[in-house]
Amino acid sequence: MQPITDIDIIQDSEDLDTPKQVSAEVDGTRNVYLETYGCQMNVSDSEIVASVLRKDGFGLTRNPDDADIVLINTCAIRENAEQKVRRRLSTFRSKKEKGRPDLTLGVLGCMAERLRHKLLDEEKLVDLVVGPDAYRDLPNLLHQANDSGQAAVNVQLSREETYADISPVRYDSNGVSAFVSIMRGCDNMCSFCVVPFTRGRERSRPMESILGECQQLVDAGFKEVTVLGQNVNSYRYDKNGKAISFAELLYQISLLSPDLRIRYSTSHPKDCSDELLHVHRERENVCNFIHLPVQHGNTEVLERMRRTYSRDEYLSLIDRARSIVPGISFSTDIIAGFCGETEEQHRDTLSLMELVRYDHAFMFMYSERPDTYAARKYEDDIPLDVKKRRLTEIIELQTGIAKEKNEEEIGRIHTVLVEGTSKRSDEQLCGRTDTNKMAIFDRLDFKKGDYAEVRVTDCTSATLLAEPMIVETAH
Ligand code: SAH
Ligand code: SF4
Ligand code: F3S
Repeated sequence: MQPITDIDIIQDSEDLDTPKQVSAEVDGTRNVYLETYGCQMNVSDSEIVASVLRKDGFGLTRNPDDADIVLINTCAIRENAEQKVRRRLSTFRSKKEKGRPDLTLGVLGCMAERLRHKLLDEEKLVDLVVGPDAYRDLPNLLHQANDSGQAAVNVQLSREETYADISPVRYDSNGVSAFVSIMRGCDNMCSFCVVPFTRGRERSRPMESILGECQQLVDAGFKEVTVLGQNVNSYRYDKNGKAISFAELLYQISLLSPDLRIRYSTSHPKDCSDELLHVHRERENVCNFIHLPVQHGNTEVLERMRRTYSRDEYLSLIDRARSIVPGISFSTDIIAGFCGETEEQHRDTLSLMELVRYDHAFMFMYSERPDTYAARKYEDDIPLDVKKRRLTEIIELQTGIAKEKNEEEIGRIHTVLVEGTSKRSDEQLCGRTDTNKMAIFDRLDFKKGDYAEVRVTDCTSATLLAEPMIVETAH
């Protein structure tokens, strides 16, 4: 889960570039160290990878020095995400060359397809390359690489694979919140984005298997699920000739237990239906928070980005959501310096941010990705210093808005799900509000997994400071 930090506004982007987790210890025939970069989908995929490997007798280790196999689950969303992974690979490669010749080094995930030739042939960095739809084949590929000493590759993308029957190993879980993957791939082809190339076509997991996994989580004491997909709200599953929508799926999950909170990520504005907004309104345990990436505030740029909505359509969606679900909170993704962006168009992004007043935003400089529509058709013509300056203006505006919005919270009461101890002090706990704001408050008798009523007393731009509500008993 996201760290508790004041620097929650991600500049190009710590969130995607820092490894999310390493594996927990389980001994096996050969031990695997697994490091994950990128989005929540990758984190969730690593849990599937761990499950596949464990079933086949492989062990997991937190320490790369103890590993026989190092697997890096990679991200390709921006150039710097790729560079980071390459540096990491080079580090492991030199370990292998300096006395660990038996070490197997593998690349999984979103860099696999595009960079397999480079990684295998030109740079000779890795022994194994496995794409996001080929994880069932991992044990086989690892044995193959081990036995033959030759590189093993499977980067085949699938139209069907959803890993529906694989129970993820939640090895680094806090025992309170879990990711549940419900669809894979993306058909949207936004002009800047590499994901449709790295992850393939959209496909949805059967509803029964999703409900089954969520029920198991409830039974195991989990209190929050975040259902995941590249374009999660385009979920659509045909059951006996009847199409199950994302709204219907969320509704069904919400019936499993009133104590289970439900979030989702990441959604596309085109699929944010009124039916879905009504589920937010009617179901208490479907959180009043939507991550709704806008990408840009100018209609002409949005058209070139192929986002399929205009500025006005996006703004009226926000208005509609706020009228159907009072108090709903939004976060977003924004790209600065897309091809051909004029100063005036950049100011449209700033003005849209002022109109919407997001609670949180992930903000990035445009980074050209090979083979995308934008790379083929448009010139990446905004100089780096201009991109940087525009991104800084966007970040500064958002920091101010987030601070003001948090100040408005002072005095309000929220129900917070306790996630664990605060990084600031052992005496304090942290947890999120329904609207996805991180709050820090005194421990008292609360423990992980409890719902705590707190009153906000102070804030930073990233965190709410709060005090637990003490219920006075009359004597
Ligand atoms: N499926 C999600 C986004 C996944 S990628 C959605 O459509 O909302 C996460 C974010 O990375 C995107 O929302 C976008 O803001 C950013 N991003 C994607 N490609 C990028 C690129 N080429 N340069 C900079 N940022 C990019
Ligand atoms: Fe990329 Fe667009 Fe698909 Fe999101 S919706 S993953 S930005 S192509
Ligand atoms: Fe990166 Fe792949 Fe996610 S490119 S952002 S890990 S879908």
